[in-house]
Amino acid sequence: MDGPVLLRPYRRSDAAAWSEVRRANRPWLAPWESSVAGRWDEYNSPSAFRYVHRDQRRSARRGEGMPFAVCLYEDGRERLVGHLNLGNIVRRAFCSAYAGYWVDGRVAGRGVIPTALALAVDHAFGPGGLHRIEVNIRPENGPSRRVVEKLGFREEAYHARYMHIDGAWRDHIGYALTSEDVAAEGGLLARWHRLRAATV
Ligand SMILES: CC(C)(COP(=O)(O)OP(=O)(O)OC[C@H]1O[C@@H](n2cnc3c(N)ncnc32)[C@H](O)[C@@H]1OP(=O)(O)O)[C@@H](O)C(=O)NCCC(=O)NCCS
Repeated sequence: MDGPVLLRPYRRSDAAAWSEVRRANRPWLAPWESSVAGRWDEYNSPSAFRYVHRDQRRSARRGEGMPFAVCLYEDGRERLVGHLNLGNIVRRAFCSAYAGYWVDGRVAGRGVIPTALALAVDHAFGPGGLHRIEVNIRPENGPSRRVVEKLGFREEAYHARYMHIDGAWRDHIGYALTSEDVAAEGGLLARWHRLRAATV
């Protein structure tokens, strides 16, 4: 937790809140998400969450992913407002993962995802035993690029026709951070706090 931003594992009881946020945010999220067959309202229904949650638990159990519900804790209430996953975890000589995230458009622009990503990266580089986190972003996605650029991820690659997103193969820019990049600063959250304080 950092300020009002809380990262926690998903619970079965998140189904209704998850579905409400996903259904309310279709135009906001669909341009940036992998292509899925079916209707948005169906695969984002409360009953569909059962399968999403089952897949997330399975990947976490196998050590392939670290899925987090992103919540805001305000006025004594916790509200699910987004999602952050460290996926495709490869151990051995890589110790790497890819980060994916989204936030409810109704709370965009408050620094929720940079804070959540900093919390997740510090967890991954510490108890999670990872060394490298990558984020791949469509060139057109200015807000997401701002997230990683503000946190000081390195722009490393241009992947042509990299992922099937919103109905077509889309180019992505590859950003990355390794544990050495933030070790001397006391972690990514400490860096983020310093950067935020400097811009206020
Ligand atoms: C990308 C995303 C996760 C950023 O989360 P966030 O918590 O709003 O992040 P920030 O508050 O740091 O805002 C990042 C940038 O978004 C832009 N922004 C701010 N308020 C905004 C709003 N109300 N609507 C749209 N964009 C906004 C600004 O450019 C901001 O950068 P700045 O801090 O330099 O002004 C969020 O925009 C989102 O969920 N987008 C749709 C899904 C998506 O793109 N996922 C990532 C795929 S790689």
